[in-house]
Amino acid sequence: ALNRSYKGKVQKHKERSYSYVQPLASYKVAILGAAGGIGQPLALLVKMSPLVSSLNLYDIANVKGVAADLSHCNTPSRVADFTGNSELADCLKGANIVVIPAGVPRKPGMTRDDLFNINANIVKTLVEAVADNCPDAFIHIISNPVNSTVPIAAEVLKQKGVYDPKKLFGVTTLDVVRANTFVAQKKNLKLIDVDVPVIGGHAGITILPLLSKTKPSVTFTDEEVEELTVRIQNAGTEVVEAKAGAGSATLSMAYAAARFVESSLRALDGDTDVYECSYIQSELTELPFFASRIKLGRKGVEAVISSEVGELTEYEHKALEALKPELKASIEKGVAFVEKQP
Ligand code: NAD
Ligand code: LMR
Repeated sequence: ALNRSYKGKVQKHKERSYSYVQPLASYKVAILGAAGGIGQPLALLVKMSPLVSSLNLYDIANVKGVAADLSHCNTPSRVADFTGNSELADCLKGANIVVIPAGVPRKPGMTRDDLFNINANIVKTLVEAVADNCPDAFIHIISNPVNSTVPIAAEVLKQKGVYDPKKLFGVTTLDVVRANTFVAQKKNLKLIDVDVPVIGGHAGITILPLLSKTKPSVTFTDEEVEELTVRIQNAGTEVVEAKAGAGSATLSMAYAAARFVESSLRALDGDTDVYECSYIQSELTELPFFASRIKLGRKGVEAVISSEVGELTEYEHKALEALKPELKASIEKGVAFVEKQP
């Protein structure tokens, strides 16, 4: 939900200029992998943000047309296209937020970890460029397997001497979006009101919705908890199977990523009431990376909301213990990938 000061700002702006020709703020967002299934609708949604003045789109293919198309929308941000390694630096210079959905998606029968061999290299190369050109930017990692690509990004940034753990985010917003939708449907609630925190990671059983912390407060039977938890954990696979070889979630992911971008922009712009779940470097458990609700501020993660994880039901507690070995292995795989590079 937009807080009051932000709503007021938008309202004032609307009164001043109905067609939104001037941005409300002047943030620069770069999307790497912008011509892909997620990249295109995400670029469209970010183009609609009144807080963005500059939208830089980078891809290894087809990005010129996407940018030309998008640039005709009469919203304030300027759109520019960049392609190939030689243009990556220019795409990134001055960026406040870099979103990375570059990489290959799953096909039926694959796990997210099956994407590791290709996507690990892509993320490593792109984050090296971020480190060189906009080390101060918020980095939003979408490319799977997120449980490993975020630790890869952290190691790359450490090697470059510019790692700020408060500014590196694995995007797990889609898990929250799904949890909110499925819970609202199941319990016949107004969608806009429902908020379910999702912790852990972003693959199979590492995705742990805390249904007991659903707002507004709802009671679930044991069967409902089991059914909803499993559906949220397998929602990505549900889409992969429905797309039958044509990829994985793109539209709902773009929606979720745009929400996380908008929340980050609001935080950068001084809104003091911005909360999201994200997979970050964390001390909440013994695992070095862990998704939980966080408070976002101008400098990135301002606080980790530990209370929700401190009061788990027996079901959630068991699920948390059960996910730890898999998440630990995925983190270690990412770290080892960067360490063993020549
Ligand atoms: P896609 O194949 O449609 O698009 C990927 C884009 O990345 C393509 O345009 C491709 O040209 C580009 N690309 C590849 N290598 C690149 C590089 N080195 N530099 C820049 N661009 C490069 O795939 P998609 O459906 O958009 O999915 C992208 C990734 O997002 C996948 O890894 C998928 O698993 C992941 N994903 C994550 C979530 C999540 O919740 N975090 C949700 C959905 C998908
Ligand atoms: C998702 O959750 O939809 C993404 O991680 C894509 C996938 O492979 O399931």
